Amino acid sequence: MIAYASRTGNVRYIVSKIEAESIEIQEDLQIDEPYLLVTYTDGFGDIPMKVSRFLEQNEAHCKGVVVSGNSNFGPSNFGGAGDKIAAKYQIPLVRKLDLRGYQADYEAIQQFYETRVLV
Ligand SMILES: Cc1cc2nc3c(=O)[nH]c(=O)nc-3n(C[C@H](O)[C@H](O)[C@H](O)COP(=O)(O)O)c2cc1C
Repeated sequence: MIAYASRTGNVRYIVSKIEAESIEIQEDLQIDEPYLLVTYTDGFGDIPMKVSRFLEQNEAHCKGVVVSGNSNFGPSNFGGAGDKIAAKYQIPLVRKLDLRGYQADYEAIQQFYETRVLV
């Protein structure tokens, strides 16, 4: 399973490139199986509020995080949501993508998904 948050469509596009079941994060979503989190970055390297709230309820089954950001925000803020989530929940930062990323990113995500999320 992939759980994702997308505000302007980039993350939705990334998720569409991965062969996996997916669900968009909304209030009170509960996931009781292993999943990969895919999120955008907000503020100045921040975790989107809805993703923070989701993780408070769904930490247990999160196997890794993929983040999209915009490298124009500079090295200390680029994809910062992924760094923060990985550190806080002690899970791998699978990939950091600039906007929609590239084919090599989708392949790396697919590989992680099949070897570390699907059980
Ligand atoms: C208000 C706002 C703040 C943002 N802040 C950051 C940031 O701090 N770091 C970063 O890497 N990207 C930042 N971004 C860029 C988005 O994370 C990036 O465009 C991402 O691909 C959006 O994904 P989405 O289209 O699925 O919503 C910001 C975008 C917006 C609109």
